[in-house]
Amino acid sequence: MSAAPDIVLVDDDAEVRHAYGQTLELDGLAVLPVAGAAAALKLLSPGFEGVVVSDVRMPGMDGFAFLDAVRRLDADIPVLLITGHGDVPMALRALRAGAWDFIEKPADPVLLVETVRRALEQRRLVLENRALREEAARDDAAAEDVWAARLIGRAEPMQRLRRTLAVLADTRTDVLIFGETGTGKEMAARALHDFGRRRAGRFVAVNCAAIPENMIESELFGHEAGAFTGARERRIGKIEHAHKGTLFLDEIESMPLAAQTRLLRALQERSIERLGSNAEIKVDIRVIAATKVDLLALADEGRFREDLVYRLNTVTVRLPPLRDRREDIPALFRHFVEAVAARDGVPARPVEPAALAALMRRPWPGNVRELRNAAERHVLGLEEAGAPDAFPPPPAPMPAGGTSLEAMMDAAERQLLAEALARHGGRVGQCAEALGISRKTLYLKMRKHGLERDAVED
Ligand SMILES: Nc1ncnc2c1ncn2[C@@H]1O[C@H](COP(=O)(O)OP(=O)(O)OP(=O)(O)O)[C@@H](O)[C@H]1O
Ligand SMILES: [Mg+2]
Repeated sequence: MSAAPDIVLVDDDAEVRHAYGQTLELDGLAVLPVAGAAAALKLLSPGFEGVVVSDVRMPGMDGFAFLDAVRRLDADIPVLLITGHGDVPMALRALRAGAWDFIEKPADPVLLVETVRRALEQRRLVLENRALREEAARDDAAAEDVWAARLIGRAEPMQRLRRTLAVLADTRTDVLIFGETGTGKEMAARALHDFGRRRAGRFVAVNCAAIPENMIESELFGHEAGAFTGARERRIGKIEHAHKGTLFLDEIESMPLAAQTRLLRALQERSIERLGSNAEIKVDIRVIAATKVDLLALADEGRFREDLVYRLNTVTVRLPPLRDRREDIPALFRHFVEAVAARDGVPARPVEPAALAALMRRPWPGNVRELRNAAERHVLGLEEAGAPDAFPPPPAPMPAGGTSLEAMMDAAERQLLAEALARHGGRVGQCAEALGISRKTLYLKMRKHGLERDAVED
């Protein structure tokens, strides 16, 4: 008997085994005859590629008990029960109990073969579907791994972020990425491009804050020779350059209003005109814009075109600040330590658990970038990770809220509080004392600035 029978034939009557077995074998099927249900069960396993034909009345385990056991092993293995001739109630019972079909004794050879062949075909389809589903699940898991290796973080908001990005990657939908400094906006944009359908095209990044106001339109749209003073030669703009690829507009909040108007038109028409030309050039681009500030709030102040916001934010992806996913800090820190060590060809300095705990308590106003810089200093041996004053926060950045006195004072206050909290390992009592304010005032200010108090109690 071959190792993989098409049919396991169970009957206590040797004559029946012989007769039925012969009928099926004459039709080219591989039959494994077995005298008892218990023995037959040992021959089956989940994923068995054949079908079972079994008598109902047998000493020991009867056909119904056997059927039940097979179904518990693999509910999709077709079981054909052989019932007594004219025994309608038993046949119905067999079907209700989950038998695939029943065959009346004595079986008509043609009917027997036909029924068994149908059951085999059914079995083949079920197993094929199962294999396809498993393969798809493996593909999904592999895709998830690719994203997880790039955008590190097990915290819930990061998992959600990766799922969203994975869906968006294969679309042409324009995306607005919103997040504080250093949260990984550019990284997310690059991943959207690299793992998406446009990966064969270019990823063209434009930092709207870094280009002088009078240059931005020619940067984006290009110009013809002589379009303006100093435009000696024709120049292809970034938008045209990104044709069939991705245009990443970083710090879009800094884009001057005139350029916004032109950009809006380009996005609506999906075509541009170079400066100094009326010729329309069709462009197939996907736009990803990144911002650190709420564009609708800017629009309220008249500093951003509201219609452009709605054009850009078809989908808004929010990157969580590091303080909202502190559980990711150890993995990120270790990752950066390894990466820096590999880059510089130096040993990765170990990180003590206590140091990691201290790192998890810091406020990290500079988010992941600040953490990466800290890891770099750790590898270089410049600082002891987690020591109270190991990582002085970076100098106060330009306040995001603007340059009014109030906005600057707010930013300075936030910075001072973050520093003080870091210095005291997040101990609110000590911190309040050092600052000469009450705990309550400190709490209120922390809440106002979105600074988290951490686990350390004093
Ligand atoms: N989830 C992450 N996993 C691994 N590295 C990350 C992650 N998020 C950010 N980084 C790293 O942190 C640094 C800052 O990220 P990125 O430049 O994308 O931030 P950003 O939001 O664009 O910052 P900014 O607003 O200041 O421009 C980069 O070195 C990036 O590789
Ligand atoms: Mg950036």
